[in-house]
Amino acid sequence: MKKILLTGGTGYIGSHIAVALAREGYSPVIADNFSRSDRRIAERIRELCGRAVPVYEADCRDINALRNLRDREGHLDGVIHLAAFKSVGESVRKPAAYFDNNIGSMSVLSAFIKESKIPHFVFSSSCTVYGSPEVREVTEETPFGKAFSPYGYTKQACERLTHDLVRAEPWLKVVSLRYFNPIGAHPSGRLGELPGGIPDNLLPYITQTAVGEREALTVFGEDYDTPDGSCVRDYVHVCDVAEAHVRALAYLADAEHSPEVFNIGTGKGHSVKEIIDIFSRVNGVPLKVIHGPRRPGDVDAIYANVDKATEVLDWKSTYTVEDALKHAWEWQKSLVNF
Ligand code: UD1
Repeated sequence: MKKILLTGGTGYIGSHIAVALAREGYSPVIADNFSRSDRRIAERIRELCGRAVPVYEADCRDINALRNLRDREGHLDGVIHLAAFKSVGESVRKPAAYFDNNIGSMSVLSAFIKESKIPHFVFSSSCTVYGSPEVREVTEETPFGKAFSPYGYTKQACERLTHDLVRAEPWLKVVSLRYFNPIGAHPSGRLGELPGGIPDNLLPYITQTAVGEREALTVFGEDYDTPDGSCVRDYVHVCDVAEAHVRALAYLADAEHSPEVFNIGTGKGHSVKEIIDIFSRVNGVPLKVIHGPRRPGDVDAIYANVDKATEVLDWKSTYTVEDALKHAWEWQKSLVNF
């Protein structure tokens, strides 16, 4: 069974990837420093995987912690790297912390991959690398834009490092997956997003408002050049995002080209107002909505062209936005018993 090191594996996306890997016959080994995740998720992962999944408390900036993991686990066949901070707004307030954590962990992990001769590497990137593109539907050929936030810059820098790494170590094969807006939760109701404190992202803010933890949801800006004036994004179910990692590992086993990048979205844009309306309709829950100014750093509209992932990885999204919004609500309601 191939062993895959999954950094940030108890986080929102990582936990869903662990389950997808186990289902496909991989053996996930999780490293997480639990700075943005909950230790109880490890048990949920084991429950859904139906077997033991090793979980190490390790910070990717600490090479000795990674070496300790390797000494105990033996050879690793691949790495999926998700351990990073991900809030655009927080990164503007704490730029040094983002550089240190996101770029620091990537560079130490790269040294670890090199010394351990781990042949396959999947990097968790983001559509944020496109900045504010001139087109709304972006392909992988769309150039990097000016980074709008320190968070965006760290994703660009890490992708750049993958190119330099492969040049220096041609035996290493790398894929970067540029996620658009992952939402939803595991259909079992056992895994989902656990934002600490006040959420930055739209979906947890919606579900916390619906459950009464927040008073009202603010729509950030209604004067964008979009059909209803609110921002447009490509919201993709987290289980589809997880499946893309399984496909990326399969691709790397026989990679023709490396490093390679893929957009991971649905190919469709939805506005903030549409998402609010669909959430209320499919779940039968009204939301108190107020209208606010634009949020600094937001681009008006961006969604993925996913032709490349479809052709090369044989991947495309299978869940609808309606499914994702239902699963997100089931997860939120289950948290009273968490
Ligand atoms: C950004 C990145 C995305 C990354 C994500 C990680 C871009 C274009 N996208 O997503 O790649 O994965 O951060 O956190 O850089 N909104 C409201 N009210 C709220 C919260 C959000 O109206 O209370 C709106 C925002 O203005 C935005 C949309 O909802 O238009 C989505 O926002 P959010 O969920 O924060 O994600 P992005 O900023 O699009």
